[in-house]
Amino acid sequence: MSHAWSIGRAVNELTAAFEAAGLDTPRLDARILVGHAVKLEASLLFARGERILSGAEAALVRDFAARRVRHEPVSRITGQRGFWGLDFAITPDTLDPRPDTEALVSAVLATKAQYIAPRILDLGTGSGCILLAILKDWPEATGLGVDINSGAVTAAAANAARLGLAGRASFQTGSWCEDLEERFNIIVSNPPYIADGERCALAPEVAMYDPEVALFAGADGLAAYRALIPGARTHLCKDGQLFLEIGAGQAPGVADLLIGAGFRAPETHLDLTGTIRCLGTTPA
Ligand SMILES: C[S@@+](CC[C@H](N)C(=O)[O-])C[C@H]1O[C@@H](n2cnc3c(N)ncnc32)[C@H](O)[C@@H]1O
Repeated sequence: MSHAWSIGRAVNELTAAFEAAGLDTPRLDARILVGHAVKLEASLLFARGERILSGAEAALVRDFAARRVRHEPVSRITGQRGFWGLDFAITPDTLDPRPDTEALVSAVLATKAQYIAPRILDLGTGSGCILLAILKDWPEATGLGVDINSGAVTAAAANAARLGLAGRASFQTGSWCEDLEERFNIIVSNPPYIADGERCALAPEVAMYDPEVALFAGADGLAAYRALIPGARTHLCKDGQLFLEIGAGQAPGVADLLIGAGFRAPETHLDLTGTIRCLGTTPA
């Protein structure tokens, strides 16, 4: 790589390196990472293609390229992920929010007409993306996010402040509902749901960079549902509703757990790929 390195050349050289490494979206990744290094939107890079990178920018681009070739996700390198049209900062303590999880946000917001000023509990809040997306579109709602990982709680609180939602969202460290006394109108959770045995099948972007505690849930992937569903039943108001994200094929197993804990047979909600991604239910 020459010392007079233009933005355009940097994008082309990173694209070639990413192609050679077998990455799925080499040009897009190259554009985002070069844009991040030079502090320009990826869409503005073409117009500035001739601009020569400073020494510091070139060093950043080389660092980003080396990390991406080792399969570190673009979002981990930039520290940002878009979710529900909002920008979330992510850290090594938080799951990288997935677009599938927007199905959960959408299912909760569909209940808006049923509550005036609901209290919402987000179990396993991670970056806070679910709770904060809901609060952004539901100005009368307030909420609490709980996570066992104190680093995630810190990250979620910072996201709330950045999004102007700190006045309506609080966060605390704890295991599911264990330290809670309050009852909530809506409880929502995207818990870990990958079976321990599926670890080897995960993409390196997931296995190496998402926190282990955010991913795995015992031999059948249902351990977190078993642990959290009884507490959710206790901490829901009479008119409350519980929404759970689930993995592909988990609907029957999670529905059995819900019914066994005193909930009605759940309704299903699909994600954009048509997969059942969310179960919603009420106390029986
Ligand atoms: C799949 S991630 C979801 C994160 C975030 N809600 C999202 O959708 O991007 C699961 C989260 O549950 C948290 N978690 C795991 N075990 C927990 C427990 N016993 N109590 C509370 N949170 C837990 C993890 O730290 C992680 O942040």
